[in-house]
Amino acid sequence: MGSLRKKVRFCASVVLLLLSFLLLLGSLSLVGATDIPLGSTLSPSNASSWSSPTGTFSFGFFSDRQSPSLYLAAISYSGGIIVWSAGGSGSGSVDSAASLQLRADGNLCLVSGSGALVWESGTASKGVSAAALLDSGDFVLKNSTAVVWDTYDNPTDTILQSQNFTFGQVLRSGVYSFSILQSGNLTLTWNDSITYFNKGFNSTFTANKSLASPVLTLQANGIVSLSDASLSTAVVIAYSSDYGESDDIIRFVKLDSDGNLRTYTAVRGAAVASRQWAAVADQCEVFGWCGNMGICSYNDTSPTCGCPSRNFDFVDPDDHRKGCKRRTEIQDCPGNSTMLQLDHTQFLTYAPEISSEQFFVGITACRLNCLSGGSCVASTALGDGSGFCYLKASNFVSGYQSTALPSTSFVKVCAPALPNSPSPPGELRSRSSNLKGWLVAVLVFGTVSGLMLFEWGLWRCFCRNGARYGPSSAQYALLEYASGAPVQFSYRELQKSTRRFKERLGEGSFGAVYKGVLASRTAVAVKQLEGIEQGEKQFRMEVATISSTHHLNLVRLIGFCSEGRHRLLVYEFMKNGSLDSFLFSGESSSGKLSWSTRFSIAVATARGITYLHEECRDCIVHCDIKPENILLDENYNAKVSDFGLAKLVNAKDHRQRTLTSVRGTRGYLAPEWLANLPISSKSDVYSFGMVLLEIVSGRRNFDVSDDTGRKKFSVWAYEELEKGNIKSAMDKRLAEQDVDMEQLKRALLVSFWCIQEQPSQRPSMGKVVQMLEGVLAIDRPPAPKAADGGLAAVTSSSANTSITVFVTSSPAQPSSSSSHSIASSSLVSKRNLDEPTSSPVVVADQSSS
Ligand SMILES: *[C@@H]1O[C@H](CO)[C@@H](O)[C@H](O)[C@H]1NC(C)=O
Ligand SMILES: *[C@@H]1O[C@H](CO)[C@@H](O)[C@H](O)[C@H]1NC(C)=O
Ligand SMILES: *[C@@H]1O[C@H](CO)[C@@H](O)[C@H](O)[C@H]1NC(C)=O
Ligand SMILES: *[C@@H]1O[C@H](CO)[C@@H](O)[C@H](O)[C@H]1NC(C)=O
Ligand SMILES: *[C@@H]1O[C@H](CO)[C@@H](O)[C@H](O)[C@H]1NC(C)=O
Ligand SMILES: *[C@@H]1O[C@H](CO)[C@@H](O)[C@H](O)[C@H]1NC(C)=O
Ligand SMILES: *[C@@H]1O[C@H](CO)[C@@H](O)[C@H](O)[C@H]1NC(C)=O
Ligand SMILES: *[C@@H]1O[C@H](CO)[C@@H](O)[C@H](O)[C@H]1NC(C)=O
Ligand SMILES: *[C@@H]1O[C@H](CO)[C@@H](O)[C@H](O)[C@H]1NC(C)=O
Repeated sequence: MGSLRKKVRFCASVVLLLLSFLLLLGSLSLVGATDIPLGSTLSPSNASSWSSPTGTFSFGFFSDRQSPSLYLAAISYSGGIIVWSAGGSGSGSVDSAASLQLRADGNLCLVSGSGALVWESGTASKGVSAAALLDSGDFVLKNSTAVVWDTYDNPTDTILQSQNFTFGQVLRSGVYSFSILQSGNLTLTWNDSITYFNKGFNSTFTANKSLASPVLTLQANGIVSLSDASLSTAVVIAYSSDYGESDDIIRFVKLDSDGNLRTYTAVRGAAVASRQWAAVADQCEVFGWCGNMGICSYNDTSPTCGCPSRNFDFVDPDDHRKGCKRRTEIQDCPGNSTMLQLDHTQFLTYAPEISSEQFFVGITACRLNCLSGGSCVASTALGDGSGFCYLKASNFVSGYQSTALPSTSFVKVCAPALPNSPSPPGELRSRSSNLKGWLVAVLVFGTVSGLMLFEWGLWRCFCRNGARYGPSSAQYALLEYASGAPVQFSYRELQKSTRRFKERLGEGSFGAVYKGVLASRTAVAVKQLEGIEQGEKQFRMEVATISSTHHLNLVRLIGFCSEGRHRLLVYEFMKNGSLDSFLFSGESSSGKLSWSTRFSIAVATARGITYLHEECRDCIVHCDIKPENILLDENYNAKVSDFGLAKLVNAKDHRQRTLTSVRGTRGYLAPEWLANLPISSKSDVYSFGMVLLEIVSGRRNFDVSDDTGRKKFSVWAYEELEKGNIKSAMDKRLAEQDVDMEQLKRALLVSFWCIQEQPSQRPSMGKVVQMLEGVLAIDRPPAPKAADGGLAAVTSSSANTSITVFVTSSPAQPSSSSSHSIASSSLVSKRNLDEPTSSPVVVADQSSS
């Protein structure tokens, strides 16, 4: 019996030993399971997976969130959060019959159910002997000694905590990608073409030195940092908002499908991670977030996507981020397209687009140039004072609408433009407001069709006239003329209408002016521009700005010609020529200008300049106000000409004036021109003041003669005013009884206010008009100091600041011929043509400094 017990005990211990041996074996085989042998396969059908040693990460098939019937072969954190996927989330989606194969040759392949190769690691015959999923989340293919390939070096859209993301690597999510530049800048790019985010987070990066091999890492405390061999310490790029917390969490950086780069924190077991930091603070600045033609805006706090107008539909009504499409494509409505205006809207413009399609023009030009440009689909006038206009010729544009944006955008649509109703789309609306919407729509439609009928009427009307006077481009011309757009003439047309430039009206600072007659029998003045260095496109833009500036007291630009090297401007013809010929040339002609005519010319000129300065959308500084540029029509109504041309010639640098080519006319140039101080609208005020003085006196402001005590007239006139001798400044040719002494006094006082040396002392043109009209009281002006020293003083002061000023004409001589020493401009009446003109253009140069 005892031996039996012994036997039983023995057997039991053997069994126990065997069991524990088996257990040991089992546990050994578990440890060994971290190495995945070649030939292993995963499949969505049997939910098999590979785990990291502690089970933190697993590699298997997970259903694709974007299309739940499909799967991704992915590495996920604690069963929920995907940190890597074979082929990326866009192109790695497979059906349920797919498989992930670690093949015998060492290649890791994702094969779809139909047997097609979807993705591979490309490690065939590289000596891979096994694979493993590490607890850091890195999946490695290795030989006996080293890692041959791993997911850390081949990231998809996520960077894990212990992962090094280096220069040369790319995160991708849909059309978006993220990478580090050699300089250390972080960049986000749309469709590998448009970089909408490029930031050096430390000033050491923004200098153009390049780092050795910048590496982006996410530290355990939540800091995103950038390290490099050439930096002593890692540079902090971002702090996570839960900085320092270190529970059982993982942190990662992810390029989201919305094109933003964010840091996340996820607690073990949680299915969603929480956002901590985003690279692009304003989601609407992510290019293409709302798809093509989509307009991004904020409803309360979240960004939403809409369409520019009711000329558009959502591409996918269930997913507004897919963008918008025109109800009628532009090519399906030839000749019937229009520009839809979107206020407070900008079409996102980033490098490289930003450098190729930008212009300095006015808002109207920005609209018209897109309308006339065949490939242009939309345009944006920044409206931030820079005068920038971006034309969008690409087939993908991305909009941003916000009341905080000063920009105005235009989209080309088939007429009629149907702006969105003010209430945001998709909002629940009651029936009554729906009705209102309809009413508005009907009203808008009615108005638009009314306008079109009107234009059609105009067109018809013109068509008949045109037929009588010969066709050419005349029909087109009136349509354009009526719509405010400049008419484009061919060089031949202008040659013909000016009879080969036969009748020369005058010579201005920008080129000669000829008389012409258009096919419609409209008399015009054709100005042949010289020294235009601009490209064709920019020239057109400037022209559009000029021609869109309409005012009763501004000479109207009718059209232009830009052909090869020819640049011509076509203006309305002003029968009575320029003011200087009446003021300064002899008894007979000035006799025609009564005091009341002179005074109304002064007020009209001031109104025209006021419009340029204050009332049109883009402030224009004329830069060359002088009697030669004030033209008179058949009723002696004054109009200012040549505005906007200074910009045309000096357009190379619009914001920063260089002194290399100051254009303007001595005697009328404000002192700041020569002292290299900023030019503003107040510089025009100065010139106007001089002109006003000349209108009163009938002589040049810089005239020096015996009866002015050998002082410049403007200086002498002020002294006379001080003494109370108002009448001595008056033109002797005016009959005293015809002159309104009140008006005369006002004009003199205003002119001395205008020619103050300090720009801030001068009134604005708006005030000038009011003062002339007697609406505003006028104080006694202080002595206009600039008048004393004149040009000589300014010249020497500029010389002190090592700027040399060259005056191309000899100084004004106290002679009778001085009345012609100023270059006549544009439409000087024929009388003056045979008289010699010198060119007192002041050219200042910095070359000696
Ligand atoms: C899962 O399915 C694949 C292919 O169908 C097969 O090769 C693999 O052995 C299966 N795994 C398990 C654990 O059943
Ligand atoms: C393992 O791979 C590394 C890197 O590819 C290589 O340098 C090394 O020679 C390989 N070792 C063997 C034993 O193949
Ligand atoms: C990341 O870079 C650091 C510093 O160069 C290095 O110590 C670490 O091993 C790297 N990690 C990986 C996963 O390569
Ligand atoms: C992305 O760029 C490619 C050419 O690089 C172009 O063919 C494609 O149309 C672009 N995608 C979009 C949405 O514009
Ligand atoms: C890096 O970003 C800064 C702005 O943060 C930018 O000024 C600089 O041009 C960028 N450098 C490069 C090489 O793109
Ligand atoms: C940028 O690099 C160029 C030449 O590579 C150099 O001339 C220039 O001074 C550098 N600029 C800065 C700000 O370092
Ligand atoms: C840039 O990085 C250097 C080196 O880490 C650091 O000393 C400096 O304070 C950083 N500058 C800024 C503006 O962050
Ligand atoms: C704002 O837009 C989001 C996303 O389109 C939407 O879920 C939310 O309800 C909107 N909120 C309001 C107040 O309209
Ligand atoms: C232009 O479009 C409007 C509105 O669709 C239409 O009434 C008009 O007939 C069109 N004109 C031409 C010339 O096609």
